[in-house]
Amino acid sequence: MYHNQFPYIRLRRNRKSQFIRDLVEENQINVTDLVYPIFIVDGYEREEPILSLPSHVRVSVDRLLYVAEKCVMLGIRAIAIFPMIETSKDDLLALESNNPEGLVPRAVRALKARFPELGVFTDVALDAYTHDGHDGISNENGEVLNDVTNALLIKQALVHAEAGADFVCPSDMMDGRIGAIRNAFEENDFRDTGILAYSAKYVSNFYGPFREATGAVSNLGKFGKKTYQLNPANSDEAFHEAALDIAEGADIIMVKPGLPYLDVLYRIKTEFKKPTAAYHVSGEYAMLKAAAQNGWVNYDKAILETMLCFKRAGADIIWSYAALEVATLLKQL
Ligand code: PBG
Repeated sequence: MYHNQFPYIRLRRNRKSQFIRDLVEENQINVTDLVYPIFIVDGYEREEPILSLPSHVRVSVDRLLYVAEKCVMLGIRAIAIFPMIETSKDDLLALESNNPEGLVPRAVRALKARFPELGVFTDVALDAYTHDGHDGISNENGEVLNDVTNALLIKQALVHAEAGADFVCPSDMMDGRIGAIRNAFEENDFRDTGILAYSAKYVSNFYGPFREATGAVSNLGKFGKKTYQLNPANSDEAFHEAALDIAEGADIIMVKPGLPYLDVLYRIKTEFKKPTAAYHVSGEYAMLKAAAQNGWVNYDKAILETMLCFKRAGADIIWSYAALEVATLLKQL
């Protein structure tokens, strides 16, 4: 049917000049879509490069405030903080994860005192605190225990909420943790603290630089994180995870990693029509940086294209290590 209409229909007419390309443009990337992940470490005036994550450093809380200020100046609305915990504090029960004087709550308090308007997202999972690098507590057979872990995740989430986090972000993939945390928030007067659920978090090979950044101990055993994170082959299962997290009280759902999982993002956004975030993860960012360093892609153009593709697929929110660079580029357009 279509071919009969040529030459009356010529789609290239709407691509002929800039004004019409702009007018028919369906999606745009905006600085208000971005969340910037930052790695933090104990100490004072510390700033350590992360080799596999070019342009990123691990910062102590005093320096974190400078990074946060840059975000605020560029119009970025929120940041996500991830701690590197000294290995001496890792133990069988990940006790440091719910220490009210721990690194994360101290960082949240400092951020909120200085930049009350800047959104702060915290990671709820035990991998930074366990002796084996798993997101939950393992038994002597190396099995990650669901309900024992949930009890600790609740404590961790409460400590973050108490410190003033706007959203806690469970990235652990235990069953039932969203409902458990939502209940605990209701019971403890944190009814306005949000939950961003990593609903569709896959066992991925693209998390490598993140694990360098957090110094995660990697003693993951035979199955790695396969007994709790999603199989990259599955999409129906991601749909189920998202449905459960929404039913349990998640305010925002997330799909992670980003570009290789755009079909999952599109499906979840289309079916649930809930606020949906995409995580452009460390390995994806590192690949682009490495290609750019070799002169194989134009980084600025490729990163803007990447962000736009997330929007087209349905992301309302994009977590990216490129957020500062993208915000700067958007100012120059
Ligand atoms: C830990 C966590 C991970 C990431 C975010 N939270 C690593 C993992 O699951 O092993 C990865 C993020 C990235 O690669 O950018 N719960």
